[in-house]
Amino acid sequence: MKAIVQDAYGSADLLELREVERPVPRDDEVLVEIRAAGLGPEVWHLMTGRPLVARAVLGLRKPKNPVQGWDGAGRVEAVGAKVTDFKPGDEVFGNCEGSFAEFARAKAAKLALKPAGLTFEQAAALPVSGMTAFQALSGPARPKPGQKVLVIGASGGVGCYAVQLAALYGAEVTGVCGPGGADFVRAQGAAHVIDYTTEDITGGPHRYDVVIDNAGQRPLPVLRRALAPRGTLVIVGGEGGTAMFGGLSRGLRAVLLSPLVGQNLRNLVSVARREDLLALKDLAENGKLVAPVDRTYPLAETAEAVRHLEKGHPRGKLVITVP
Ligand SMILES: NC(=O)c1ccc[n+]([C@@H]2O[C@H](COP(=O)([O-])OP(=O)(O)OC[C@H]3O[C@@H](n4cnc5c(N)ncnc54)[C@H](OP(=O)(O)O)[C@@H]3O)[C@@H](O)[C@H]2O)c1
Repeated sequence: MKAIVQDAYGSADLLELREVERPVPRDDEVLVEIRAAGLGPEVWHLMTGRPLVARAVLGLRKPKNPVQGWDGAGRVEAVGAKVTDFKPGDEVFGNCEGSFAEFARAKAAKLALKPAGLTFEQAAALPVSGMTAFQALSGPARPKPGQKVLVIGASGGVGCYAVQLAALYGAEVTGVCGPGGADFVRAQGAAHVIDYTTEDITGGPHRYDVVIDNAGQRPLPVLRRALAPRGTLVIVGGEGGTAMFGGLSRGLRAVLLSPLVGQNLRNLVSVARREDLLALKDLAENGKLVAPVDRTYPLAETAEAVRHLEKGHPRGKLVITVP
């Protein structure tokens, strides 16, 4: 089969389209014939092996899995011996390891039937970003109707879903994005938009009940100043930080500080699970959540797609299509 392969950590120049062996699903796995694959910062982290601490899991000297890709949508080709909930021919979406390929293995527990009415491209734009936004806005961070929510990094993959979900829950949403992103963020349901190049998140008249932080590596005291005295902050991500830890130390500091202050300071590590995919599927099928695809690239142009991601400013998701 054809796949995007990388033999060492590094830049997008190392991504090559090659013929490789088709993967064989384990007992609890499904072999998916990939039709589309989502592309986000997680792929950049797998590609570069950054932050360096992640190599303890990804492979110390080179990627354990040389085939790139994380999210996928496609048709079930075969199922492992213990898989009873999918059959060949089912259209599915979810976390497919090595999805920049004609076929990829996926844990059955991290897959669900594709939302009816969505294209494979739209379905591939949902899993990691949609589940992350869904989990970020759960528990104490789920806003009550009328509460004020700030989504930092509102025009990107996670942010576009966070804005939609917070608005769906009845919150008054303010989205933070760069110049040119305001119309897109408003279209996702934000009532207000802050341009991070000209305005400060603490500049407005009020404090937010929930802050979802996807970008910018703002120091904790700045985020806390934007938050209501009893509000909830969820640190989701943000590029930059040190070579060894990236932005991870900020999340750790938030968790350590949280018991000592009135605000609830959380760090999210999202988990791929079917129940959340099913919740997203239900919302998508009922027209309550859309999967915005900024641009698609054919498999052979994956390196170009990663360069687009690195330069920044995709509105919603970039998606790789597999013929
Ligand atoms: N915790 C988890 O489990 C988890 C899961 C998934 C992703 N993540 C992480 O979450 C982060 C966001 O992912 P994503 O897929 O949404 O990325 P993305 O698609 O690249 O979006 C980034 C967003 O941040 C905005 N932005 C850039 N610099 C900013 C700044 N200084 N202040 C405010 N906004 C800024 C961008 O706006 P412009 O384009 O207008 O500049 C864009 O809206 C990444 O770091 C990713 O690794 C974490």
